[in-house]
Amino acid sequence: MLIRKPSMIPSSEITPKEVYGNRRKFMAAAAATAGLAALTGERLVHPAVEVAAATKLPTVKSPLSTAGLTPTAYKDITTYNNFYEFGTDKGDPSRNAGHLQTYPWNVKVEGLVAKPQTFSIDELVKLRPQEERVYRFRCVEAWSMVIPWVGYSLSALIQQCQPLSSARYVQFLTLDDPRQMPEMSQVNINWPYSEGLRMDEAMHPLTLLTFGLYGETLPNQDGAPVRIVVPWKYGFKSAKSIVKIRFVAKQPPTTWNEMASNEYGFYSNVNPDVDHPRWSQKTERAIGAPIWKQRQPTLPFNGYGDQVASLYAGMDLKKNY
Ligand code: MTE
Repeated sequence: MLIRKPSMIPSSEITPKEVYGNRRKFMAAAAATAGLAALTGERLVHPAVEVAAATKLPTVKSPLSTAGLTPTAYKDITTYNNFYEFGTDKGDPSRNAGHLQTYPWNVKVEGLVAKPQTFSIDELVKLRPQEERVYRFRCVEAWSMVIPWVGYSLSALIQQCQPLSSARYVQFLTLDDPRQMPEMSQVNINWPYSEGLRMDEAMHPLTLLTFGLYGETLPNQDGAPVRIVVPWKYGFKSAKSIVKIRFVAKQPPTTWNEMASNEYGFYSNVNPDVDHPRWSQKTERAIGAPIWKQRQPTLPFNGYGDQVASLYAGMDLKKNY
């Protein structure tokens, strides 16, 4: 897997749209060749797929970016991951996800929606200007990072599809392809990985449909080509490599809640006052921070309480963890 360490990219260096398009076509050609490898039933391996890993994404500044944070190093963000389809160790996704075919890629929008439709990844990328949003990211395992994501509010896509008034939740389903993800068989998860949000959470402007980080397309291990990021919730709510968005009337089943509902609630708002049954959530380890700054207090709603606490007015957040 090619991992480049991009610096923050000035707009003068941003790849023009035509070049981006050509790069995408090149990726399509590479993916088609890799498809031949698939006929042999082996893991998809083709060097050209690796070469196409990082493409610059033109971005605009966002008022929703969190000010005053120092982003975690690119290397840490891309080598310390949870992506169980590629293994359970933090280093497995960066070792094993390099050959995932992320182009062409479609996302199907279905369920209780006036305009069900399938978007190609190119259509999705172009739907709205890509914004750079620096967010805190808090994993339920009590570590955290600061990540300069690239994307736009999920609400833009939702509005385009016009959900029916009966749609109260949104479910995200991710790629389920054991041939490309052979490590899936090592864990006892009911695939595909599924996550969900209440409609008002999904429509909140902070909820990001995410295509990149550090000014480039997402590395495979971080959920290429498209994932969700919900900054006030534990990281597992942020489903990676999404292929389906489904509007539903009832709270959808979600992977970690199905695995252990006493440990992982549906809401999973970051909450220092509700411990995980096996560890405290009062503090977190900031990955990559200087040793004397690594242990930090965890903030309610991961620091986004001013923007999102009103979504939960009147709810007992100790019961609805
Ligand atoms: N999405 C899929 N498809 N599969 C996964 O295993 N892990 C989740 C979430 N999204 C996961 C997933 C968990 S537990 C976390 S903490 C975040 O992805 C990690 O995202 P990162 O590796 O980009 O930090």
